[in-house]
Amino acid sequence: MAGRDGSPAGRTGSTDRRSDAPIGVFDSGVGGLTVLTALQRVLPSEDFLYLGDTARLPYGSKPAAMVRAFAFELAAELVARGAKALVVACNSASTVSLPDLAYAAPVPVWGVVDPGVAAALASHRGGHVGVLGTERTIAAGAYQARLAAAGAAVWARACPLFVPIVEEGVADGAIAELVARHYLADHPSDLSSLILGCTHYPALADVLRRVLGPYVEIVDAAAATAATVAEGLARAGLARTAGGRPGRVVHLVTGDVEAFRHVAEVLGGPAGEVRHLPLPLPAREPWSALTVGT
Ligand code: DGL
Repeated sequence: MAGRDGSPAGRTGSTDRRSDAPIGVFDSGVGGLTVLTALQRVLPSEDFLYLGDTARLPYGSKPAAMVRAFAFELAAELVARGAKALVVACNSASTVSLPDLAYAAPVPVWGVVDPGVAAALASHRGGHVGVLGTERTIAAGAYQARLAAAGAAVWARACPLFVPIVEEGVADGAIAELVARHYLADHPSDLSSLILGCTHYPALADVLRRVLGPYVEIVDAAAATAATVAEGLARAGLARTAGGRPGRVVHLVTGDVEAFRHVAEVLGGPAGEVRHLPLPLPAREPWSALTVGT
């Protein structure tokens, strides 16, 4: 679906960025590493600049205008550092900044919502489609609106305890299962698929499957996003062609580097250099300032 969450209808058709420049990926913190890992799987020779705004997380419980302002700021920072394209890995940020960010930014921008919705609809066989996310993501209603527009019956649930459970490293234990049962207690009996609408939730996939049984299709928005980005980059002529070495990752974090490393271990990362990026970020191009807080 062009121009909502993806880039094709934005100011993104032309770019003078070189195809061997890095792809910028940003998130409120460590959770976006699930999206980065999915991207690396399908784009093994691309370089990535990953920006985790760990000093200001969580985004999922913050007001929409604030999260939107952060998203524009992080996007501008990555563009200023030479990113040829952007991936908004954070669901909370995607729901409140897109499609506007894709229209404003001078490089292609992809979020996680449209790819997740498209993947859910592709395997939809009637019944309800469920969406789990942070309070911000569920309140924004972006997933629900897109699914409803496609004619699907939707059930959505904010799960604020899931992020701390994953970051605490207990995503596969009894606590996670108890909390999952609590959140899923009133799901419709004809729930046929469930979108994991948060960066952290792929880590809970096994628990969710245990709670829901084998017949509910679990849709990982991270994997769907990676496929969309790979296809879009190739179409835009931005895929890295210089082979000969695996892609590299530089992580930039606004909070403490060691704390990032520690929590990132839970999600299997970070592989690559981690640098501190102190706040406040410098004021960037007018395209980002103009739209902040609107
Ligand atoms: N990255 C956020 C998301 O996907 C989850 C963590 C947070 O609330 O900042 O919505």
